[in-house]
Amino acid sequence: MGKKIAAICGSLRKDSYNLAILKIVCAKLSEMGHEVTLININDYDVPLFSQDIETTTGMPEKVKVMKGIVHSAQAIVIATPEYNGSVSGVGKNAIDWISRPLTPDEGQYASFSGKPAGIIAASPGRLGGVRALMHLRHILTVLGCNVMGKQVIVPEAHNMNDVSKKELETFATMFDAYIGKLLA
Ligand SMILES: Cc1cc2nc3c(=O)[nH]c(=O)nc-3n(C[C@H](O)[C@H](O)[C@H](O)COP(=O)(O)O)c2cc1C
Repeated sequence: MGKKIAAICGSLRKDSYNLAILKIVCAKLSEMGHEVTLININDYDVPLFSQDIETTTGMPEKVKVMKGIVHSAQAIVIATPEYNGSVSGVGKNAIDWISRPLTPDEGQYASFSGKPAGIIAASPGRLGGVRALMHLRHILTVLGCNVMGKQVIVPEAHNMNDVSKKELETFATMFDAYIGKLLA
């Protein structure tokens, strides 16, 4: 049976390579019957996280919508750019907001905890964002996700070829099997 999957792109760039590879994975997962919602962080007016916002005006309404998509999803896929050997600040900022509870009885990291996650990265560089994925895997593990071992990096993303496209589709197929097992 199809699952609810939230897909997050950690780049705001209009022509983002990470958005492009995430769309390939999302298309394949949708084809396999999953209900996939792609989160483009641009659409949610996400401020820089500050606990002062939480204690005064609270989580902004649009950020609540973004969190809601992840919270109600059964599985998560994230594509991250690599910035200075780590994840993008924009992506981490979104994760930080989503990790925050909306109500006092919401369990710690409830939007992420116990959910299967898949991670991918694209970069024009030769390393393809592998260092960002090491950090992203760590962050998601801290949040209680079960991160799939298989990940995809797309190096020299400005010249993306059919081999990378195939690998992304294979990743989606493996994620389908992974969530099938974990969410059975
Ligand atoms: C501040 C900054 C730091 C970057 N650091 C890295 C890096 O450590 N490794 C890398 O492969 N690319 C790095 N890049 C290049 C990005 O991979 C490139 O801009 C890429 O297109 C960003 O992803 P996007 O296309 O999804 O926006 C950096 C870019 C910026 C703006």
